Amino acid sequence: MSFNFDAVVDRHNTGSVKFDLRHDLLPLWVADMDFPLPDEILDAIKKRVDHGIFGYTMTTASYWKALDSWCRREYGYQVKPGEWITVPGIVYSLSIAIRAVTEPSDAVLIEEPVYYPFSQVVTDNDRTLVVAPLCYNNGRYSRDLAAFENAVRKNNVKAFILCSPHNPVGRVWTQEELTAVAEICRRYGVTVIADEIHCDFIRPGVQFTSFATLGDEYKHNLILCTAPSKTFNLAGLQVSNIWVPNPEIRQRFKKQNRANGYNEINALGITAAEACYTMGKPWLEELKKYLEGNIAYVRTFLAQSMPEVKLVDPEGTYLIWLDFHGTGLSNAEMKEMVEGRAKLWLDHGDIFGQGGELFERINIACPRSTLEQAMNQLATAFK
Ligand SMILES: Cc1ncc(COP(=O)(O)O)c(C=O)c1O
Repeated sequence: MSFNFDAVVDRHNTGSVKFDLRHDLLPLWVADMDFPLPDEILDAIKKRVDHGIFGYTMTTASYWKALDSWCRREYGYQVKPGEWITVPGIVYSLSIAIRAVTEPSDAVLIEEPVYYPFSQVVTDNDRTLVVAPLCYNNGRYSRDLAAFENAVRKNNVKAFILCSPHNPVGRVWTQEELTAVAEICRRYGVTVIADEIHCDFIRPGVQFTSFATLGDEYKHNLILCTAPSKTFNLAGLQVSNIWVPNPEIRQRFKKQNRANGYNEINALGITAAEACYTMGKPWLEELKKYLEGNIAYVRTFLAQSMPEVKLVDPEGTYLIWLDFHGTGLSNAEMKEMVEGRAKLWLDHGDIFGQGGELFERINIACPRSTLEQAMNQLATAFK
């Protein structure tokens, strides 16, 4: 099967957050992709649209079967029916999870730099934000376990939001790394809220380990957040599946979810997710090859035209983290160069918290020609 990822689809004036908030910049910021889904999936959605009635909708047995097969095949875990909870988004689920397992002013730990809604969701729920910064050495990120444990102990941390794979630094945590974290959290009674939304984008030669596969002893304090929304670009259809193995935490999660009001996922989202999980694999495999080409393109371009800017080689995600420390620019100058002169909308590193200054995040899930245009604009502005 072959798909045309080179085709440029105009997304302007579709209410796209990525394209329509500002028309003066080329957008490679928010994590959504500029590729349409393949025909067989669009046909399934169209069939549902053609039915014409969009009343209250629930997930069906075929939806659960599709999700179950995907999780068993792709991630190696199986969830008992009834242990999943569907919610309209991962950030939404983080908020519910925090309210389910902590009280106001309790400490919640995150690792920065990290996807910025993590800190927002903690402070917006009036919890105390505790940050364990990641370590950055020789172009690679890691976790200082002693500092992590210290942060947990000193602050009496009740919950930890794990980003796995990690956005924006692109780490795919190894089984050893995850087990070490799981063990600390188990010992101190910390609930792990594991956000695995990027887990279908793993580079060749890299192994993804789901937190759910670490061992039964790490499940009683786990809330696992999964979704097809990055994998198949369904963010606008709002479908997420949350696994809460511990029945007591599950009841608390459900209660907080109910307290939000009506929270069923939407009718088209259900159809789309099921179609993607059953028919989307060939498209995803081709897409990942295309993204490899995009990463290679950026790497070569930087080496030839902007060697002062370093690519932090990602192990997963379609987000690239660029290190501007070698340019001699200040953080403010870098931002002005990217936005003011290169006319690019990237995500400036400092929005991801501690350690994010002098980095830019580029979303490479776009046709090669868009990426080429962006890199050329960047190099011209840099000169
Ligand atoms: C780590 C991470 N979690 C969650 C989300 C957003 O998920 P949702 O749109 O389902 O709230 C993103 C989007 O970029 C993300 O990178």
